[in-house]
Amino acid sequence: MLQYDPFVTSGTDLYALYERLRDEAPVYWADGTQTYVFSRYDDVASALADTDTFSSDAMRGVLMGAPTGSGEQRLPRSEASGMLVAVDPPDHSELRRIVSRGFTPRKMAAWHDYIDQTVRALLAEASGDEPFDVVSGLAAKLPVRVITELVGADPADADRFRAWADAMTRVMSGSARTSGLQAGEALAMFQLADDLGHRIDDRAENPRDDLLTTLVRAHGEDVLSREEAVGFAALLLFAGTETSTNLIGNAVAALLAHPIELERVREDEGRIGQVIEETLRWDPPVQYVFRRTMRAIERHGVQLPADANVTLLLGSANRDPRRWGDDADLFDPDRDTAGHVGFGFGPHFCLGAALARAETASALEHLLPRIDRGAAVGDAEWIDSMQFRGRRRLQVAMAAIAEF
Ligand code: HEM
Repeated sequence: MLQYDPFVTSGTDLYALYERLRDEAPVYWADGTQTYVFSRYDDVASALADTDTFSSDAMRGVLMGAPTGSGEQRLPRSEASGMLVAVDPPDHSELRRIVSRGFTPRKMAAWHDYIDQTVRALLAEASGDEPFDVVSGLAAKLPVRVITELVGADPADADRFRAWADAMTRVMSGSARTSGLQAGEALAMFQLADDLGHRIDDRAENPRDDLLTTLVRAHGEDVLSREEAVGFAALLLFAGTETSTNLIGNAVAALLAHPIELERVREDEGRIGQVIEETLRWDPPVQYVFRRTMRAIERHGVQLPADANVTLLLGSANRDPRRWGDDADLFDPDRDTAGHVGFGFGPHFCLGAALARAETASALEHLLPRIDRGAAVGDAEWIDSMQFRGRRRLQVAMAAIAEF
């Protein structure tokens, strides 16, 4: 019998299950989560684009059990505490315009050197004598260092942010969904908010060239409240770490599983961009997002009432042969990946996409030449999350740095 639930199902055979969902029940009722599950590309992409019918406040509602709007009502900006991802237009457009000032192409380009230096420093620690764990040695450390600098938090806190992001992931979509945060973790979250709040107050007096200053410096009426700035900075520390870590890990894992593609990209680093986009399609770090129906609708003969929560399976939409052809399950960096939903689609399209791409490109550029041909891959051990997909460990044999 076909059984799927967003908070129960994970592991290697996920994509085979998605195929059954698309073929047998394109609108599937997942009883455990009480959500309808959309798995076909057209249904997922059109729901992402249609904010009149599908509210994003379910991103708080389902993941955090926090209040949402109901019926035609939307969660007001004043109650969203800076959680951009859970706010609908027109409030969303207002908020996004403000925070986008911290993510202009010029600002992102300025990060390239810092990213490269950090990657080099992390890889310099791989001796070549013993297997190197790509996840703990590189992929888990790089994004959190970048986001800590970008936000303007204390660099010495990077390791703590990493631990908080892991805890949040476990609570929102992993094993701690039922047990909740441990007391120590809850206290750490509170301290994070308190610390960010103090830093924001400081920026009002002493502006700097960092994101916190950008958020709270008024441009006419366009400014975030203190609470919104704290909430948004905390969202970034979470949204910008676990995701990028898994993109780096999933890209390396995909290449190790496809040695011909690994050789091709080692010979021509101009292919790195294609490898990244194909990884975002083929094995995306974010497997699904949630929406709430603003009114009753019908899809594939199923009636969905107003206020129904819907799971949009990005990982399945990206493998749908109706959109990608019969070889949708094949990892093929030469394919045209335009339209993949690995970063979402529509108004909530990932704000950090350029940064995530830059981090992953730098990681691959410096790592791939050093991977030994006969690289040994340990058994896949998945991270503790059903929404995010990535490996906890990825061991490779490395050539010594002296050989480069
Ligand atoms: C590979 C890495 C990443 C992936 C796969 C990813 C994926 C996504 C997806 C699927 C969404 C859409 C959510 C929705 O429609 O409900 C999203 C939104 C978002 N992402 Fe990312 N993300 C990544 C990296 C980052 C980074 C590095 C940052 C910040 C520096 C970031 C910040 C955000 C923000 C703020 C939003 C909300 C945008 C909005 O609601 O307008 N993400 N991301």
